[in-house]
Amino acid sequence: MKVGVFDSGIGGLTVVKSLLKHKLFEEIIYFGDTARVPYGSKDKNTIVRYGIEAVEFFKNFDIDLIIVACNTVSAYALEEMRENASCPVIGVVEAGVLATANAVSKKSSNIFIIGTKATINSKAYEHGLKNLGYNCLSTKATPLFVPLVEEEIFEGAILNAALEHYFKDVTTPDALILGCTHFPLLEKQISKYFENRTMLIHSGDAIVEYLKEKFTLQEKFEEPELKFFASENPESLRKTAQKWLYDK
Ligand code: DGL
Repeated sequence: MKVGVFDSGIGGLTVVKSLLKHKLFEEIIYFGDTARVPYGSKDKNTIVRYGIEAVEFFKNFDIDLIIVACNTVSAYALEEMRENASCPVIGVVEAGVLATANAVSKKSSNIFIIGTKATINSKAYEHGLKNLGYNCLSTKATPLFVPLVEEEIFEGAILNAALEHYFKDVTTPDALILGCTHFPLLEKQISKYFENRTMLIHSGDAIVEYLKEKFTLQEKFEEPELKFFASENPESLRKTAQKWLYDK
C-alpha cells in the first residue's frame, strides 16, 4: 500500500506520525502546500481548487489512497477531490466524527469542536455528529493556535494567554475535537487547561481507527519509505518532519 498524505502545510505531519506508529503503509508520500498556507482563512472555491490541484500532484505517483490530513480541506473539498481522483480519497473530518462516536457513548455528552475559521464555519463536524444523534455540540475557531505551533511555542505565557482567550467562557467539555492538524502538538496544554477531565480526539489517531475499520489494514510495515514534497521550501518541511516525527 502506497499512500499520499496532503495538508496545507506542516500540520499534517501529526497524521503521518500516527500512520508511522501503526505501520499501516509501505510508502508514504507527503505533500504540504507550504507556499499557500494557511487555508483556514480562505473561501470554499479556493480550498476546493487547491484540493483538486493536490489530486493532480499525486497523479505523478502510483498511489492507492489519498489521505486529506487537513481539516479545512476535508471540510470543503472532499467530494470534488474524489471526482478527480482515480483512487479513494478519505479525510480527517469523517474519521474524527467516527472516532468521536466510538469514544463517546452518551449522546447527551457535551462535545466541543475547535478548528480554523473555515472548518468551524463549514459546520462539517456538527453535521456529521448531529446525523449520529449527538446534539450537545459547541464550536470555536481558534486560529491563533496555528502560528503558535509553527513558531514552536508549545508552552509558556503566550500560549497560556491564547488558551485563556479562547477557553475562558467554555464549560469543561466531555470531549474536545482537535479539528486542526496542528492542534495535537498542543494536546497536553489543552488537556491541562481543562484539568485533564476532557477526552481529546486527534485527527491522526482518528484516521488510523478509520483505516482499520473501513479498509481492514494491518500493522505490518516496519520501515515505510517516506517522501516529503512541498510547494515552497521543501527543505524546511523535511527538517520539521525530522523534528516532529522522531524527536518530539
Ligand atoms: N492544516 C490546517 C487544518 O487542519 C490548518 C492550517 C491552515 O489553516 O491551513 O485545518
